[in-house]
Amino acid sequence: MAILITGGAGFIGSHAAVEFLNAGYDIVVVDNYCNSSPISLERVKKITGKDFPYYEVDLCDKAALEAVFVKHPEIDSAIHFAGLKAVGESVEKPGLYYSNNLLSTLNLVELMSKYDAKKIVFSSSATVYGVPKTVPISEDFPLSTTNPYGETKLMIERILKDIWVSDHEWSVSILRYFNPIGAHKSGMIGENPRGIPNNLLPYVAKVASGKLPYLSVFGNDYDTKDGTGVRDYIHVVDLAKAHVKALERAMAVKGVDYFNIGTGTGYSVLEIVKAYEKATGLTVNYKIVDRRPGDVATCYADPKKAYEVLGWRAENNIEDMCVDLANWMKQNPNGYEEE
Ligand code: NAD
Ligand code: UFG
Repeated sequence: MAILITGGAGFIGSHAAVEFLNAGYDIVVVDNYCNSSPISLERVKKITGKDFPYYEVDLCDKAALEAVFVKHPEIDSAIHFAGLKAVGESVEKPGLYYSNNLLSTLNLVELMSKYDAKKIVFSSSATVYGVPKTVPISEDFPLSTTNPYGETKLMIERILKDIWVSDHEWSVSILRYFNPIGAHKSGMIGENPRGIPNNLLPYVAKVASGKLPYLSVFGNDYDTKDGTGVRDYIHVVDLAKAHVKALERAMAVKGVDYFNIGTGTGYSVLEIVKAYEKATGLTVNYKIVDRRPGDVATCYADPKKAYEVLGWRAENNIEDMCVDLANWMKQNPNGYEEE
């Protein structure tokens, strides 16, 4: 048996590849590198001391993806990370997001069905909860979205459910991630945002290392502890480990299930600034600016179900997340680009 990891060169996929290899599984990786580099996969080999095949394949190219299934009849499951993920870009280019994220998933599940590999773990997002009325958020909260990116996540969740309804041989595990940050403890793999980062932690790290002048804090008039937005930050290695647990459950039980993957604790933007400064001894200059359109005040998970059903819970705290991110940034000031 082997696990197909789509989008495995990306931020979360590369960390998941490490965890699956460390857990003794064989993997096959496909990625078109539209937001990543194969260097991350070479680093995964160095970290684990294990070899595995990887292919430059666009999942929207069904023939190219099918060639991978033909070459690797041992594939019996998939962890599906491949997709475009920038919320703002999805508002500007909805067609690109709908076609890339949906077509790639439809091709993948059609081939998984054809080659009898009917176990999938899918990367969904807390964005499917829209503007939650209360926190913590549990899996049975109402679903809605506020942008095309979120819409693709919700549509894919529904597609996967319908596939299971039509064929009960499927095992579908939908993981709704909160805010993944941090990096592998080795400092060899991490997040590699192209250009100016959209997300808080990569931005904070660039300000601290002097590559950007200051952080714009998007609003300090929310109804939160200090007025700034509150989120549930989760270490990417903890998140990666949740995929191993989810696949192991999918191997044992058929059906569709949904899990929040977060810590259950919310941190404000200013708390994150302080935590990063404390963990690194660096200074993070910031200015308060207007709210960012579309942001919610507070978002954090009730992660109880993942613990009760999968036996998974986050182990790293916010300091670990900041230290590991800073270590990755220090070792790779230009991401993977220097090699
Ligand atoms: P990432 O961009 O680093 O990784 C995604 C990978 O998919 C990239 O390597 C990219 O090259 C590849 N890819 C995209 N379209 C492809 C296609 N058509 N064919 C082949 N490869 C393709 O992003 P990430 O942060 O690792 O996210 C992984 C998954 O988790 C995504 O589906 C994302 O939407 C989801 N997610 C991420 C976050 C987050 O904050 N990082 C939060 C919630 C959900
Ligand atoms: N923030 C700033 N300044 C910045 C960047 C962010 O103040 O330069 C604030 C935001 O206003 C928010 C918090 O930091 O309060 C976190 O913002 P991120 O952009 O890092 O994360 P979001 O929670 O907005 O978005 C993330 C993912 C989305 C996903 C969403 C819900 O990036 O893909 O979580 O799951 F849709």
